[in-house]
Amino acid sequence: ASSESTEYIIDEHLIKNIYQPREDFVNKGTFGKTVMIAGSYGKIGAAVLATKAALKSGSGLTFCAAPKCGYNVLQNSAPEAMFIESGENFIEFLDLPEDGVLGIGPGLGTEADTEKVVLNLIKNQKMPMVIDADALNILSKNKDFLKYIPTNSIITPHPKEFERLFGASKNAFERTELAKRKAKELNIFIVLKGHHTQIISPEKEVFYNITGNSGMAKGGSGDALTGIITSFLSQNYSPKNAAIFGVWLHGKAGDFAAEKYSKESILPSDLIENIAEVFKDLQ
Ligand code: APR
Ligand code: MG
Repeated sequence: ASSESTEYIIDEHLIKNIYQPREDFVNKGTFGKTVMIAGSYGKIGAAVLATKAALKSGSGLTFCAAPKCGYNVLQNSAPEAMFIESGENFIEFLDLPEDGVLGIGPGLGTEADTEKVVLNLIKNQKMPMVIDADALNILSKNKDFLKYIPTNSIITPHPKEFERLFGASKNAFERTELAKRKAKELNIFIVLKGHHTQIISPEKEVFYNITGNSGMAKGGSGDALTGIITSFLSQNYSPKNAAIFGVWLHGKAGDFAAEKYSKESILPSDLIENIAEVFKDLQ
């Protein structure tokens, strides 16, 4: 089985080939719109982190669709993003910009109305999207909808979410093999998160990431990753490159933050602040 796949380590050389420096003659319309669909009462922070990470990764126009209870927090902490009111305390409906690139899942919860909205979106939207967290948990409860995930979408499960979606594996090797089969069958990219996150393509390639550190093992780090990858997708990186570059940059920003503040003390928001250091380093 392994003979039909190729494995790579994500190194600086690969990243420098992927990275597209921002050109001079651009405006905010040059890059597409990033739309984060996230948050519910008590988990608005997830929406904030995903939205801020999208902003810090270069998105031209950024929206956050969230319930009304998050309005003040979001407008205060991410004033550059536009708020799309989508319910009272959790997402009940969506009125999205037509050409936005979607990142869906952080902090959504799994209320029945939210479930309906998420499944409807996955079934009817045709553009590649990023699917994470509770959107994956909703899919786990509705496995017949997996086949509707738009081609070339990126899903970002941590090991538990992966297991809920596709079942248990005996060990890490078996999990990677299962992910390869699923990526091919569903025609999607799977970002299998962990200490060494793997990106698995529909062609069964496996890209291993070696940036990042244990200071990132804190609630909220994953939400930042979803924002970064969605932002790259909206800036016209291919889904494969958005996933590879996003995972690498997320880890590298975490490494810069840990160097400054220690692994114990870094927060996902410090990681997001240090995205700037990664871009400076690439230039
Ligand atoms: N080394 C390197 N990177 C790490 C490490 C580590 N030891 N631990 C975690 N990370 C990175 C992962 O690679 C991933 O990118 O931090 C991120 C963690 O993401 P998640 O596991 O999704 O965690 P997060 O979402 O921030 O918080 C957990 O959200 O998804 C829900 O069910 C989840 O409620 C839980 C909460
Ligand atoms: Mg998560």
